[in-house]
Amino acid sequence: MRLTYFGHSAFLIEGNGVTALIDPFFPSVKPDLNGNGLNYIFVTHGHADHLGETVDLALKYDAVVICNPELGHYLSKKGVQIHPMQIGGSFDFTFGKVKMVNATHSSSITENGEIIYAGPPCGFLIHSEGNKIYHAGDTGLMMDMKLLEDESIDVALLPIGGNYTMDVDDAIKAVKMIRPSLVIPMHYDTFPLIRADVDKFAEEARKFCNVKILNCKETIVL
Ligand code: NI
Ligand code: MN
Repeated sequence: MRLTYFGHSAFLIEGNGVTALIDPFFPSVKPDLNGNGLNYIFVTHGHADHLGETVDLALKYDAVVICNPELGHYLSKKGVQIHPMQIGGSFDFTFGKVKMVNATHSSSITENGEIIYAGPPCGFLIHSEGNKIYHAGDTGLMMDMKLLEDESIDVALLPIGGNYTMDVDDAIKAVKMIRPSLVIPMHYDTFPLIRADVDKFAEEARKFCNVKILNCKETIVL
């Protein structure tokens, strides 16, 4: 399985004959999907820096969007195929098992100056080809992360930018609760409000697990 970072909270997953994106908002470089197409898009919540290019990409590539039912309703009305899930729910997809997990944040879409309710924010556990990936979405530190310790997570993608999510110190506490094999920081330095000292995060987190700081377009093979 290949995991490629596209900045902010956007990741491309390729494996088991499936290509999927998580939170397709691309601050700089966009993924080249013309070779493999796109089968699924995971969307953690409705905020523009996560929903990103979901509608355009889903329509262009006939991809199914995995998200909460309210965000799904919004997307359905735009012609997008959805697979709705709720927090705590799991489903066996052809590529592997997905569980929607809690995130403590908000979720809405701003359109024509109005706020549209976009259901609860979430994170995803994606278990495929023997690897379990946790994408935390936007979240503050929460005790629910302690439940993830039993999931034996291989790779945890955690926000560290502060202001809207956990900062570096809280992300370290999250690492201690989740105990992943590898942590990859995300959701930092995209905007001035979420500047973070990623080297400090790496230095601290390394006491508890492996750490990889991914540059934009950088791939790790799991
Ligand atoms: Ni958000
Ligand atoms: Mn965000």
